[in-house]
Amino acid sequence: MDYEICLEPSGIRFAAGAEQSIVAAALAQGIPLQHGCGNGSCGDCKGTILEGEGEQGPFMPLLLTPAERAAGMAILCKLRPRSPMRIRASVQEAGQWTAAVTALTPLAWNVLELRLQPERPYPYRAGQYARLAVPGAAGEWRSYSMATPPQADGTLVFHIRELPGGRFSQWLFHAAHLGDTLQLAGAQGEFFLRQDNERPLLCIAAGTGLAPIEAILQESMALGWERPIHLFYGARRRPDFYHLPVLEDWARRHPHLRVTPTLSDAEDRDWAGARRLLPNVTASGHWRDHEVYLCGSPGMIEAAIDLLLSHQVQHERIHFDAFAPNG
Ligand SMILES: Cc1cc2nc3c(=O)[nH]c(=O)nc-3n(C[C@H](O)[C@H](O)[C@H](O)COP(=O)(O)OP(=O)(O)OC[C@H]3O[C@@H](n4cnc5c(N)ncnc54)[C@H](O)[C@@H]3O)c2cc1C
Ligand code: FES
Repeated sequence: MDYEICLEPSGIRFAAGAEQSIVAAALAQGIPLQHGCGNGSCGDCKGTILEGEGEQGPFMPLLLTPAERAAGMAILCKLRPRSPMRIRASVQEAGQWTAAVTALTPLAWNVLELRLQPERPYPYRAGQYARLAVPGAAGEWRSYSMATPPQADGTLVFHIRELPGGRFSQWLFHAAHLGDTLQLAGAQGEFFLRQDNERPLLCIAAGTGLAPIEAILQESMALGWERPIHLFYGARRRPDFYHLPVLEDWARRHPHLRVTPTLSDAEDRDWAGARRLLPNVTASGHWRDHEVYLCGSPGMIEAAIDLLLSHQVQHERIHFDAFAPNG
């Protein structure tokens, strides 16, 4: 059964099936409803139900505050209509950029650094992500976080993990060449450095979750911040780490920055460093006064959030980007 959905304030109307999310139905009909991951991980598709009933599917904790829920806000990529609905939601600017591949540099056995030169300035904040079109697959996009703050020459830097069967990453690792062009949609996301307080920072990054955390750390260094920052950087096995020398160099030059690489795999007996599952670094009350930045798999983030909340870290101080598959 189809229901009519009316978006406010644009007045755009479209039909959505009972088993379709509002975002999926809009995109299928060419309506560029604001969204990011498409799977309940990023919160970029928040909207407000003004009229009608919908069934809200599961999404990452903390994407909606209790006040937002009380005000009728919903995660539209996980909301299926149960009646005709009127929803306040943003329709994205049609802004798109073309960018040329200027460097492809291996960082680890399964991670490449991709550098792009957009044809015109690409505005973003350190920590945000871009959506990149999958070459040769019309309408398919993948989210990747910029790994540096905006650069003077406009270069965009990404850390991209190769995934078995991954349409974008397989193209990048095995078919991309310097000079190839890619389409980018405008930068998105709420994962950026909060500058309205002087709290110390706890940063937790798993795998390529290091990318936006590096951007945020570089911004804090450029701002001359001297408050304590503790970065826990996790990998399963030692070869999965990348940029350890970069992080060690930053820690040497900025004594307030402490970096703790931590392995989760018990197999590597020669590893003298920390060894624990990343969320467990939050399993103490030490972080109550910190601003917390988490980036990595949704499972790691959910577990870390649970522990942080149970230790009275206020949810307004927990910021995260969940690197979920793009849905
Ligand atoms: C806001 C945001 C920012 C992101 N930033 C980055 C980044 O900076 N660097 C980066 O490497 N990734 C990042 N990701 C994750 C990346 O967008 C997805 O992993 C994407 O689906 C990869 O595209 P692909 O075409 O290579 O694989 P796909 O064709 O999408 O997927 C191939 C297979 O791998 C599985 N899969 C996809 N992603 C994951 C995952 N994360 N974990 C486990 N299995 C997966 C899929 O279910 C599928 O079976 C980000 C995701 C989000 C939501
Ligand atoms: S697009 Fe809905 S949560 Fe990311």
